[in-house]
Parts: sequence; structure tokens; C-alpha cells
Amino acid sequence: AETASLSTTLTHFVLIVSQTNLPDYYRVWLDLANNLTHLIETRKLRDLVHKMPVLDPHLLSNHRELRLAHLALGFITMGYVWQEGHHAPAQILPKALAWPFWQVSCRLGLPPILTYADTVLANWKLKDPSGNMDLIFSFPGGESCKGFFIVSLLVEMAASSGIRVSAGRRYSPFFSRLTLSELQSDAVRPSVHFPFFFFLPVHKPCLYHVDPTVFHGTLRIFVSGWQDNPMLPRGLVYEGLSDEPILLSGGSAAQSSAIQCFDALLCIRHEDETGAFLTRMRDYMPPAHRQLIETLSVSPSLRDFILSHSSSDLCQAFNACVSALVDLRSYHLNTVTKYIIVPGNQAPAMGCPLRGVGTVLNTRGTGGSSLMVFLKGVRNATQKTLISER
Ligand code: HEM
Ligand code: ALA
Repeated sequence: AETASLSTTLTHFVLIVSQTNLPDYYRVWLDLANNLTHLIETRKLRDLVHKMPVLDPHLLSNHRELRLAHLALGFITMGYVWQEGHHAPAQILPKALAWPFWQVSCRLGLPPILTYADTVLANWKLKDPSGNMDLIFSFPGGESCKGFFIVSLLVEMAASSGIRVSAGRRYSPFFSRLTLSELQSDAVRPSVHFPFFFFLPVHKPCLYHVDPTVFHGTLRIFVSGWQDNPMLPRGLVYEGLSDEPILLSGGSAAQSSAIQCFDALLCIRHEDETGAFLTRMRDYMPPAHRQLIETLSVSPSLRDFILSHSSSDLCQAFNACVSALVDLRSYHLNTVTKYIIVPGNQAPAMGCPLRGVGTVLNTRGTGGSSLMVFLKGVRNATQKTLISER
């Protein structure tokens, strides 16, 4: 039974959603979501949402339809809240959005806000038979928006084979005999930094390019939430559900279940505020992902097992895995400097012509963390997990 439930969890984990249509009754949601960039740029979205009927989500009949509805309602919600920029976020989400978004979210076990599992795991489709990918829905920011979400997806794809192999083995009674070969295989070593190189061309254009000014000045605000965000300090009222505002974090790769799975597998422990933030981010993951991380976190410690065997091969294989994550996190810190810190310092000098977040979000991630302190803490905890060879 345990194996069966694990395989169900893993099937959910590698989400192959490319559902792009809903029953005709929900056409107005897809019309808005499909034209979102244009409607935000011409500042028409809010008016159209005000004219939207309150649709009952009961005709959504399966997981894929629910995920697509969550994705569409999430994109429309972010567009609605941030259409007028950081000076004038919406304080109230109209019932026509709030009520169905809430219902759909309850059925999926996800919060009623756009999550990483929406924008990255459920927001892609095949553009042509050769396998090129495209986004289903987009925010302003053109190719930079596409590049940002697709690169994150490439990281997830690179990570997924390793998770399938290693998570499956951890459940196995033969765990100890398989450890060395598994650890040494490319599938398990979290070489997740590879897709990052698509991302940061130094001189020549590459497949997915994200422009720092566009990312910071145009795109970033649309993944921002209403918790730990000075632009919406009290949260957002979901009309028809409660008169009290609700606090919810914006989308962030801190909600990536793949990376948290590697941490759990490799016994990388994040403590204090850093650990609490990462644990809270699990509430933004699909329940099956959350459950897998929790199961892996309480299963026998791979690191203790290796320490008790004093085998140099095992230590080296383990350290190679942990080092890959240290490298990823160091690389990611440079990325944050390039995409948040540098354009954040330049924006006021340029008069910040774009609708972006200016200096407001320069010290906070879209997920709400105090970004540099948090990210350095996560990297340092990873480094501490290395086993020193005597
Ligand atoms: C967390 C920025 C791309 C993986 C974060 C955080 C920030 C950030 C500010 C802190 C959490 C928050 O409050 O949101 C960026 C920027 C990126 C970028 C500016 C590119 C423009 C990526 C990509 C990945 C990724 C492509 C790969 C999946 C992570 C992870 C965390 C995180 C795993 C949680 C901390 C950790 O486990 O190390 N990111 N990120 N990021 N990001 Fe990124
Ligand atoms: N979490 C990323 C940021 O803070 C998207 O910009």
C-alpha cells in the first residue's frame, strides 16, 4: 500500500498538465486570462472584472480543469490587484473573482492566490510538435516573462528525475544497498543549476533571455502578494467571503517542491526564521507535493547513515549532491543581485518610468522574505551539511 501511495504521489508530482480549455460556461475567465497583457496595459481589466458574472465552479469536473481554472483566476486576480501599479493596489477583490477562486482553491488544497505551482508547473503548453514550449497565460514583460517562467520549469524538469529515483529508493527496504550507486548517478545529483545557463547570456542572445530592467520594472509586481508586502500591509479583502482582509504571500520559487525535496533527501535543515519561512511556503504547494516533502523529512537520515559507514566513496557521492545545491544557491544569489539589487538601485535615478515596484520591494522577495539575509542563510545551511573528510 505504501508503494502504491508513493507512486500516486510521484505521478502528481510530475504534473503533465497541458489543459488549455474549460467548459464553455467559463469562457469569460479564459477570454480575460488569454488577453491579460493587453487588458492590463490598456488599463481595461478592472472594468471588465466589474462586469463579470459570478460563475459557479461546480461544472469543473476534474483535476486538470480545476488547475487551469486556478491558473486563470490567479492571473486575472494579480492583474486586477496590480493593474495601476504599486501606488494603487486594489484593496478588495470583487466577488466574481473572489468567490469562485476560493471554491476552486478549496477543492485543490491550494491558497486563493497565484502560486509557483500555477505559473511554472501548470502554465506551459507545447508550441509545436518539435517540443518547443510556450506559456498558457502571460503578464506584461513579453519574452522576459516567458523566459522567467520557462527557465523555472526547466529547473523543475531537470530536478524531477532525481526526485523520482531517490524518493522511490528511500522507501525501499534495500535503501542502504542502493545508496552509493544511486547517489553517484547523474539522475540523483541535483544538477539543477544547468538550466540557469539559459538565463543569463553574457554577450550573445540565448534561448530564454530575461532582461533585468523588464523583470524588475514590469513583471515582478504581478507575482507580488499581500503578506509581508508594504504595498498591501493589511492584506486583501475577498468580497463575499469575509469583511476582514486576508494575508497571502506572492509567488516565489521558495514554493518549489522540487528544491525542498532535495533538502529533505540530503538532510539539509533550515532553522529559525529561514526554516519557518520555507515551511510556510509548503502551504502554497499542491497537497501531494507537501506530503512527499513531509514524508521524506521524517524518514531515516541519509547523512547519519553515511556518517556511520565511514566510507570515503559514500561521503564523496553525498558531498557532490550537496555541493550541487550550494552552487545553485550561490549562483542564485548572483542572479538576485543582477535582477533585483542592481535595477532596484538604478530605478530611482532613471525616474522609474515603468509601473514597477520602485524601491518598495527591493528588500523583500515576492514571497515576502527579507531576501538577501534569507537567501544567504539558506545557502549557508546547505554548506554546513557537507561532511568534512578526515
Ligand atoms: C527564492 C529571486 C529565479 C529558485 C527566491 C527569493 C528571491 C528570489 C528574492 C526569496 C524568496 C522570496 O521572498 O520570494 C529570484 C530572481 C530570479 C529567480 C530575481 C530570476 C530573475 C529562480 C529560479 C529558480 C529559483 C529560475 C529555480 C527554480 C529559488 C528557490 C528559492 C528562491 C529554490 C527558495 C530559497 C532556496 O531554497 O534556496 N528567489 N529567483 N529562483 N528561488 Fe529564486
Ligand atoms: N521571488 C522572485 C522575486 O522576489 C520572483 O523577485
